[in-house]
Amino acid sequence: MPLKIREMKAGIDSIELFIPRPYLHYVDFAAMRGIDPEKLEKGIGVKSMAIPDSDEDTATMAATACLRLMEKNHLSPEDIGRIDIATEGGLDESKPLTTYVIGMLEQICGKGSFQHCMGVEYKSACVAGSRALLDSVNWINAGENRTKASIVITSDIAKYDIGSPGEYTQGAGAVAMLLTEKPRIISLDKGVASWVIQDNYDFYRPHNRDTPIVNGKHSLGCYVEQVAKAFKGFKDNVLQLGVAPHYNFTNLIDYFAFHLPFPKMGKKALEKILFEEFAEDATAVGVPFLRYLVERVEDKESLRKILDIKKSGEVFRQKVEPSIAGCAGVGNIYTGSVFLSLASILEAEHFERKDIAGKRVVFLSYGSGSSAVVYSGVIGSEYAYSVGNGILMPALENRQRITMEQYEALHRSKARAPVIEKRGQFVLTGIDENSRRTYKYIE
Ligand code: HMG
Repeated sequence: MPLKIREMKAGIDSIELFIPRPYLHYVDFAAMRGIDPEKLEKGIGVKSMAIPDSDEDTATMAATACLRLMEKNHLSPEDIGRIDIATEGGLDESKPLTTYVIGMLEQICGKGSFQHCMGVEYKSACVAGSRALLDSVNWINAGENRTKASIVITSDIAKYDIGSPGEYTQGAGAVAMLLTEKPRIISLDKGVASWVIQDNYDFYRPHNRDTPIVNGKHSLGCYVEQVAKAFKGFKDNVLQLGVAPHYNFTNLIDYFAFHLPFPKMGKKALEKILFEEFAEDATAVGVPFLRYLVERVEDKESLRKILDIKKSGEVFRQKVEPSIAGCAGVGNIYTGSVFLSLASILEAEHFERKDIAGKRVVFLSYGSGSSAVVYSGVIGSEYAYSVGNGILMPALENRQRITMEQYEALHRSKARAPVIEKRGQFVLTGIDENSRRTYKYIE
């Protein structure tokens, strides 16, 4: 039975990514740190990590992604009513990242050309990208946009201490999304988003640190618990609309776009969601043997593993696997990760020549600290025109594998000269004694 939720008209019309071209290969990384490469490839799922060059920062990545989005869609500043930027780590405690981006865009579009554009910086760890997206969609649906489009950008550098377990989940990149009233890629469902929040110290970055303090194992537990809770809220919201049966709910979802700090995380979260569903369904529909198992078997962890092995493998292959190419090739991009999962799904299925118009995607977004939001949307009939020659692949073209020595110099901010020559992007040209940054566009 197709799931018919009240659709919002507004949603994502077009997506552009900017990924820094220097990258670290997992085999080089494993050799230098004395780690079994199989652990990175299979245990974590990472193949390479995008590393920002010395002349790149969150503002250059955001501005380049935004300019490319505008060019691809033939947009001029008057077409855009709002540019919001979500970031885990902006450049200033006060001045919004949006102003740096507008400064750069005005070098191309003309001074003052964005002066009537609204724009703020969103911060709430990785979940901020989803919050920015939902706020903009609501703004459009409420008619406040007065026919103008909105652009939501996420931009982040995931940087961890050298030698820490977080180091192999690093990444960097920006996602720029054009939001319109009649979106080609995905229209968001109305009245079903579910949010959860709790006070946790799983991952946090106090002032004056450029790397987080991470309680890795605890963060995995917080992620899984919070995402499962938000998913349950999402399911309850859908059920209240009376549009779906209460059992086998996940059968009605075509794709899961998870926040992926590393590719294996999607599998862990899916297992939890399916187990919760199984336990609920077994009790609700009264299958006596299953109910007996769920209620009586004391060792819940072993039970979870037995049941998960049966069901989650196939669900993962069909509904999650198409989403992981971006994270496996780029690493964690924090606020943009959930949209990198969406871009990967669109591109993987498009290149496989599958028609996914009308399919439902559920977004499962997590931010440390910690909060989660789950919401959904339906892929539009014209999505293929917007995907065109791909979203992820063009962003990953002409990348350059760097050595561990180059990487460590960049990490320690000791690489003065850029490692790679740039073309077609904004770069940072200087920071003065008052921390004012200057940028320019390289043709
Ligand atoms: P770790 O110490 O590498 O963990 O930390 P591990 O030793 O348990 O190994 C990981 C997996 O590799 C295990 O598999 C091992 O069995 C396997 P699992 O049990 O998970 O299925 N393994 C191997 N596989 C094959 N061959 C081998 C081998 N050896 C081991 N030889 C951790 C992993 C993710 C904790 C660490 O990388 C970390 O701290 N990362 C940073 C924090 C993080 O990403 N947390 C995720 C949830 S929080 C979040 O998503 C929010 C965030 O994006 C920030 C924000 O919101 O702003 C981070």
